[in-house]
This record gives sequence, C-alpha cells and structure tokens, in this order.
Amino acid sequence: MTIAVRVLDAQAATDALPGLAALLADAVNTGASLGFWAPLRPSRALAYWHDVRAEVEGGSVLLLVAEDAGGVAGSVQLELCGKDNGAHRAEVRKLMVHSSRRRTGVGRALMQVAEDESKARNRTLLVLDTRTGDDSESFYRALGYSPAGSIPGFVREADGTSSPTTYYYRHLA
Ligand SMILES: CC(C)(COP(=O)(O)OP(=O)(O)OC[C@H]1O[C@@H](n2cnc3c(N)ncnc32)[C@H](O)[C@@H]1OP(=O)(O)O)[C@@H](O)C(=O)NCCC(=O)NCCS
Repeated sequence: MTIAVRVLDAQAATDALPGLAALLADAVNTGASLGFWAPLRPSRALAYWHDVRAEVEGGSVLLLVAEDAGGVAGSVQLELCGKDNGAHRAEVRKLMVHSSRRRTGVGRALMQVAEDESKARNRTLLVLDTRTGDDSESFYRALGYSPAGSIPGFVREADGTSSPTTYYYRHLA
C-alpha cells in the first residue's frame, strides 16, 4: 500500500484531528507507552491533539502524518529546542503507527521525512526516549539511533508498577 508523509500546518492539523485522535487511542489502548494510561477516552485524545495543534501554530513543533488509502496510518512530532545552545537539536516525540499497519515501513517512512525536515532546519541532532524493552527500541536501533542510557522508574504504569526509559540520539550527517 502506498504511504504518503506530510508535514501539517495548523489548518491541516485541525482537519486531521479526528484521525489523529483515533490513532492515539489505538496506540495507547493496544499497550504503547505514550504518556497516557489505557483506556484513553476519545475526548482526552482530542484535547491532546488540540494542544499539539497550538504548538504547531506557534512554530515550536513540526507535526508529521503518514496516510494510506485507509486514512491516518501514523504520526510523529519534532519538538524544536528553543534554547540558545540547542538550536541544532530537536526531540522526536509521540511516534506511533496504527496497530493494523505495523511492520509495513510506515514508521521508517515517517522518520525519514522527520530527519529530512530536521536537516533542512539545521537540526542535526535528534534525541528521544522510549520505554525500555518496547518494540520501539528495536525500531530505533534499526534506524541507527544510539542508546545513551536508561532511567529506572521513569514510567509509572496504571497498575502501580514502574518501568525504565532509555534515551537515544542520532547525529544526522
Ligand atoms: C515503534 C513503531 C513506531 C514502529 O513502526 P513500524 O511502522 O511498525 O516500523 P517499520 O515497519 O518501519 O520497521 C522498521 C524496522 O524497525 C524494526 N522493527 C520495527 N518493529 C519491530 C518489532 N516489533 N520488533 C523488532 N524490530 C522491529 C525492524 O528492523 C524494521 O525493519 P523490517 O520490518 O524490515 O525488519 C510501532 O511499533 C509503534 O507504533 N509502536 C507503538 C508506539 C510506540 O511505542 N512508539 C514509540 C514511542 S517513543
């Protein structure tokens, strides 16, 4: 299936809100660690994306969406560091691919465009963190990201247990 990745401006983000909310709910409700506990209510997912839309409008965040014939298949964001000493870096956040579209190259396609957009803005260092042991670790390693270390107890799970997170980075050539 053909995948198209777009960078959304604020208007396009508004138009995509329902699809993005459904994507986030699917990811969280199938076990992804994206900051929310399952079950994620649609209204909460929508409120989250409204906040992201405001960040897009303010210019601090780039929002990318991957679409195929079935609609929104995945998304990722780049938070552009606003510090004087961080104008060369960005944080990759909320990468997610719909559970029905995984292992078909959607994540790789999203990250390729995210890296191209970063380089076009002279953001040549990407950083991120992800729950230790998740599939996302294999994904980021496959894409050339280096582990920088883990923080125990970073994630508090709904059942009261906790999980570590692992930081990754990549210098873009
Ligand atoms: C992590 C995630 C975004 C990967 O997206 P994806 O579209 O399935 O990944 P791709 O198909 O582009 O995979 C690219 C490569 O990553 C690696 N990879 C991806 N998923 C993997 C898995 N479950 N196990 C092992 N390796 C995996 C493989 O090397 C793969 O290449 P291959 O399929 O040719 O072997 C997806 O699993 C997801 O949405 N997870 C839930 C949300 C999440 O955890 N996000 C990270 C938060 S920081």
